[in-house]
Amino acid sequence: MKGKELIGNLEQTFSQLYGGKADGIFFAPGRVNLIGEHTDYNGGHVFPCALTIGSYAAARKREDRMIRFASMNIRSEVTEISLDDPALHLDGSGTREDLALGANDWTNYPKGVIWAFAKAGDRLPSGFDVLYYGNIPAGSGLSSSASLEVLTGLMLRELFAFPKVSGVDLAIRGQQAENIYVGMNCGIMDQFASAMGKEANAIFLDTNTLEYTYAPLLLKDAKIVVTNSKVKHQLASSDYNTRRSECEKALSILQAAEKSGKEIPSLGSLTPEEFEARKSAIDDPVLLRRAMHAVCENARTIEAVDALKSGDIHRFGELMNASHDSLQYDYEVSCPEIDVLVEEGRKISGVIGTRITGGGFGGCTVSIVRTDAVEPFCERLGKIYKEKYGLDAEFYVVDAGEGAHRIS
Ligand code: GLA
Repeated sequence: MKGKELIGNLEQTFSQLYGGKADGIFFAPGRVNLIGEHTDYNGGHVFPCALTIGSYAAARKREDRMIRFASMNIRSEVTEISLDDPALHLDGSGTREDLALGANDWTNYPKGVIWAFAKAGDRLPSGFDVLYYGNIPAGSGLSSSASLEVLTGLMLRELFAFPKVSGVDLAIRGQQAENIYVGMNCGIMDQFASAMGKEANAIFLDTNTLEYTYAPLLLKDAKIVVTNSKVKHQLASSDYNTRRSECEKALSILQAAEKSGKEIPSLGSLTPEEFEARKSAIDDPVLLRRAMHAVCENARTIEAVDALKSGDIHRFGELMNASHDSLQYDYEVSCPEIDVLVEEGRKISGVIGTRITGGGFGGCTVSIVRTDAVEPFCERLGKIYKEKYGLDAEFYVVDAGEGAHRIS
């Protein structure tokens, strides 16, 4: 479903479920990260752009304290909870363990955002009815969860008039919801891209300071192609959390060994040369490879943005390739299916750069492909992949879209 048809369907289903009309329709996009992977929780840089697909919500304030959630993706069943239900922990109580309201319950995402609003002092005066619909393939690594969180935050801000809540706040609150309510220790990148995206631009974000600039995606005669391996990144959150703690261990070893008095607040604060001079302090070869990735990926991201700005798309592509190799061998967050997509993709003429994107362990690759090579790329790679794994990869030629916004 797309455009007007999608909104019409959402409005109609809202009336069937709840009666009457919604107060507003809202949208928040998914994202694709071009380069800067697993750098956001290491104080480094990222370079994602928002997509034009994402999550939609039709919502209406209620007079009482009831909240009703439904999603068109899940047979439009209504889940109810009162704002006063202790499970929402709006008094700020509860540990991470008892906050999770039930594993695999998608309503944990919006509930987490309500909790994050309350934590920031923005308590809801009443309940609401909401109906969601998302068109990001689930488990594809294109941030369907971040889009749901940012969307919920935007909807709360608009329905209940919290004008001081900025786009960056929406990203931070979405990340808090995911960290605490879902137990995925993600960084800020996905929520930031969803909240702050800009049409035709990628966002160069310093995750240490949250300073950001927009960079126009001037790809000349090339396109961004996202390839969905259809390998869902299930269980990714536990492996993801392990990578994060490995980086934290490596950092604390470097901090403890530092003799010069230099502060090392994060792996992202080190240049590759500074890391090289210190890395002998890390004995464990696995921790060493994890840290190496975090440091070098940050440097690659900074260089890649410069290359793009100066029109050197080929250098940008080389850095994307180097990013994948590091994610495959040093950070070990790829999987055989994705590696085949990358390896075979690189052999196709007109492919400027290709790599895994997002958290990893499945999901999608992102490639920069010369416009005239897009068709052969999709055809040839799709065929090779089908022969090898029996899976139908999906290809999306994507445009950078606008961040979260109210539709009506
Ligand atoms: C997931 C997380 C992000 C980021 C990426 C890897 O998408 O949600 O915060 O860490 O993985 O770059």
